[in-house]
Amino acid sequence: MAQIFPKWTNETPKMLAAGGGVASVFVVFAFYMWASPWHTDVGYKPRQPVQYSHLLHAGRLELDCRYCHSFVERGPMAGVPSTQTCMNCHLQVKPKSALLAPVRDSWASGESIPWLRIHKLPDYAFFDHSAHVGVGVGDNRAAIGCESCHGRVDEMEVVKQVKPLSMSWCVDCHSNPEPNLRPVEAITKMGWTPGPGWAEKASKIVKTLAPPGSISRVHQVNAQGEPIIVAAYGCNGCHR
Ligand code: HEC
Ligand code: HEC
Ligand code: HEC
Ligand code: HEC
Ligand code: HEC
Repeated sequence: MAQIFPKWTNETPKMLAAGGGVASVFVVFAFYMWASPWHTDVGYKPRQPVQYSHLLHAGRLELDCRYCHSFVERGPMAGVPSTQTCMNCHLQVKPKSALLAPVRDSWASGESIPWLRIHKLPDYAFFDHSAHVGVGVGDNRAAIGCESCHGRVDEMEVVKQVKPLSMSWCVDCHSNPEPNLRPVEAITKMGWTPGPGWAEKASKIVKTLAPPGSISRVHQVNAQGEPIIVAAYGCNGCHR
């Protein structure tokens, strides 16, 4: 795996001490920007070109998420399935359904279905699915399930965004990922609950992880006087 922190980050404490004034102003500014609610799209649920239901396919039919989102363990993007994936079943299942007409048209013409993207980070923020659905190495391998970031998709007729995808959301988990770790076998399991012994294992695994923005933290308080955690550095882990 690529080195997350370049050498200069070792010098950061010194640099922070030297340029303390400037740095703290910048950190406060960055926090102000990322904590503000105007870039959270929680609940965003556009009307899709086909009335495809996760409740039916992932819930009732219990299809594994990876049957359709097949790149999720291999690269940055989870990917949306090709029309062929739908036709694997729908050549036989409901071949005359009007609801499936756009799928058949796409299959006949070779033009992909214009699914609308729901979750979208700005280009300046880097995110990689494969680095999250599998974390750690060897015996210390664990996963963050789809559920932790996307909610109970198996209960959604239409997918909607349930988390803010804000910087503070990323940094909050990076500062304390332990409650979100689960065994790799449970990556796509919905409604997973930890079995006996998992809590001990998770607290061991978490010590081997180093998500960007978590190593050094500045503790501040918000307007209500509650403590908040602010990334002091590691910025270039997510802003490359
Ligand atoms: C039979 C194929 C299929 C299965 C199985 C499936 N999905 Fe999907 N998924 C799709 C399609 C098609 C879309 C795009 C249309 C939509 O948003 O409903 C999509 C969209 C999504 C999105 C939103 C993508 C965006 O644009 O931001 C998420 C999140 C998602 N799926 C998660 C899951 C999870 C989690 C599971 C397993 C519980 C799952 N999917 C199972 C086909 C599938
Ligand atoms: C593993 C098989 C399988 C796959 C793959 C699959 N479906 Fe389905 N789909 C079904 C079944 C089974 C039904 C329910 C049929 C019924 O109600 O009798 C269904 C129902 C539907 C319906 C409702 C049809 C109606 O008339 O009620 C739509 C729309 C649909 N699927 C779209 C899709 C899309 C889009 C994809 C690809 C992203 C897809 N399906 C992939 C098995 C599948
Ligand atoms: C650590 C949080 C996290 C986990 C775990 C996670 N996702 Fe995502 N997902 C995101 C974020 C953030 C985005 C938006 C990424 C972007 O815009 O670059 C996203 C986008 C998506 C998209 C649409 C864009 C794309 O990558 O194709 C799909 C589909 C998706 N996720 C499916 C899944 C599935 C299926 C799983 C489980 C196997 C999963 N995700 C696990 C955070 C997560
Ligand atoms: C639910 C917990 C959780 C959330 C939410 C989360 N992460 Fe992570 N992320 C982790 C963990 C745990 C690791 C450490 C992986 C390791 O050390 O193997 C990590 C590692 C990373 C890495 C380093 C791996 C790489 O690909 O270089 C980046 C970058 C990253 N996360 C970006 C993000 C961004 C951006 C967001 C928000 C959009 C985000 N993460 C949200 C838990 C999370
Ligand atoms: C864990 C990943 C992560 C780390 C570490 C991180 N950022 Fe971010 N940052 C993000 C994401 C994701 C966004 C986009 C948030 C959004 O769209 O709401 C963002 C947005 C921003 C923005 C733009 C805010 C806005 O609303 O326009 C600034 C400025 C910023 N980050 C500065 C920093 C600084 C400075 C650091 C280091 C102290 C840092 N970031 C560390 C993930 C990260």
